[in-house]
Amino acid sequence: MTTSLSTDYTGKTQYDWLTITLHWLTAILVVTLFLLAEIWDFLPKGTPLRKGMQAWHISLGLTLVAVYIIRVLWHVFGSNRLPPAAHGLQQVAAKTVHYTLYALLALQMVLGFLFRWAQGEPFMFFGLFDVPTLMSADREMAHTYGEWHEQVAWIIIILAGGHAALALLHHYVYKDGVLLRMLPCISRRR
Ligand code: HEM
Ligand code: HEM
Repeated sequence: MTTSLSTDYTGKTQYDWLTITLHWLTAILVVTLFLLAEIWDFLPKGTPLRKGMQAWHISLGLTLVAVYIIRVLWHVFGSNRLPPAAHGLQQVAAKTVHYTLYALLALQMVLGFLFRWAQGEPFMFFGLFDVPTLMSADREMAHTYGEWHEQVAWIIIILAGGHAALALLHHYVYKDGVLLRMLPCISRRR
């Protein structure tokens, strides 16, 4: 089925450049954070490489917090709005997935902070500054937060994977331009 590319009332066929940049930055950061954790799991505990990867995970996690806050503020106050890419139930499903991803990312960031504070270990941003400690160390809670953090990570990756697969389905099967709305491809601009 081929449908024409939707446009908003100003004639735009794509999200604005900041929305696109923040979307792809988020995607790259989430996948990198996940891969770092899955890879360090194979390394012996306490090795400098494992510790280094964990320090990178925390610094990139803090970067994700900044990207996320800018993204939500931009989504609410500044970004251009396009008409829904689908209608009826499909539109409800797509919106639900998007808002669930936003909610899970927020939860994951909060769990990341709780996890680190409960571990009572260094909490630095690329060696530049220390995140203030708001909680005393607690080994038992660290274990619990760690398990939740890991479970939420898998849910995010599976949901984002499904979301990406659908975007590719729209592009290659329905050929309706939904993926192009989120790509910086000038040729489709009207
Ligand atoms: C961890 C990875 C990802 C996350 C967390 C994520 C999250 C999101 C969210 C929250 C939105 C809603 C945008 C908004 O209204 O503010 C969105 C839109 C979109 N995403 Fe992703 N995404 C990810 C990866 C991908 C990938 C890999 C693709 C493509 C293969 C993709 C394609 C799209 C497209 C095309 C839209 C716009 C849909 C529309 O206009 O209705 N995303 N994404
Ligand atoms: C979507 C983003 C994120 C994903 C997918 C993710 C994923 C993971 C995973 C799978 C683990 C391993 C858990 C375990 O084995 O128990 C982990 C560990 C950890 N994450 Fe995240 N994480 C994310 C964001 C964050 C953020 C924002 C922070 C805080 C700034 C953070 C802090 C930590 C800490 C402190 C650890 C434990 C490191 C250690 O044992 O030294 N994470 N993360």
